[in-house]
Amino acid sequence: MAEVVAAICTSHVPAVGVAIDQGRQAEPKWAPYFEKIEALRAYVEELQPDVCVIAYNDHASAFSLQLIPTFLIGVAAEFPPADEGWGPRPVPTVPGHPELAWHMAESLILDEFDMTIANEMPVDHGLTVPLSVMYGQPPAWPCRVIPLCVNVIQYPPPTGHRCMMLGRAIRRAIDSFPGAERVAVVGTGGMSHQLQGERAGLINIEFDLAYMDHLRDDPEAAAKISHTELMREAGSEGIELVMWQIARGALDPAVHEKLRINHVPTSNTSNGVLVFENV
Ligand code: DHB
Ligand code: FE
Repeated sequence: MAEVVAAICTSHVPAVGVAIDQGRQAEPKWAPYFEKIEALRAYVEELQPDVCVIAYNDHASAFSLQLIPTFLIGVAAEFPPADEGWGPRPVPTVPGHPELAWHMAESLILDEFDMTIANEMPVDHGLTVPLSVMYGQPPAWPCRVIPLCVNVIQYPPPTGHRCMMLGRAIRRAIDSFPGAERVAVVGTGGMSHQLQGERAGLINIEFDLAYMDHLRDDPEAAAKISHTELMREAGSEGIELVMWQIARGALDPAVHEKLRINHVPTSNTSNGVLVFENV
């Protein structure tokens, strides 16, 4: 049977992707962040997951307000990097895993999660930046990827609790797949940041660090943080943190924290990385 081997949570800041693509990682502005990220790259190199299920949000790249899927699963054989206004990122096409993705779609829908199914979809920085953060600049991505796209752009997004329950359903789906795949479930976005309005630039490190503890020790309680509290404490885009609940939900109630990184700021964001494994 396939197996969930880790939950990996990471911010998905587009400027981090640009810094990697333009070879600026050693510049004084970026070096302190990329030095910290080495620990994640070493962890992922040792873990070598066969598949990453990546919970991320599309930022009006694949979908406009014409179509707003709350939860979507990508079942294609590959997903091209999206053009976000400056041409697609110069990163490899993202290889899918149609067999596992269709199995997950069936399992999740029969488990009463009404997934949208995408046979064709470009993927934006929400998905490609975490891959770059985890793997650097390989000629081809070393794992297959199942995009799990979540609406956090147009109100109302799903609750943290719903996301945690989806994570648990993803675990059941992976556990019941007759393959030998070792799967990492990746939650992206956050931590605190606000890109717009009067509070643009908001960062709340105390909240972010407490949220990391909370997610590790009491995910049920973390899942009950309301949208209003998340936005008040972590900013309007901090609501992306509900996607970390999907990764956490895919593990057992008790986890080991394998890695924690916080770097403030990258671009406008309090950048966080958090890795858990089952005890
Ligand atoms: C930034 C962060 C994000 O999560 C995003 O989607 C876009 C921009 C930023 O910090 O600039
Ligand atoms: Fe984002």
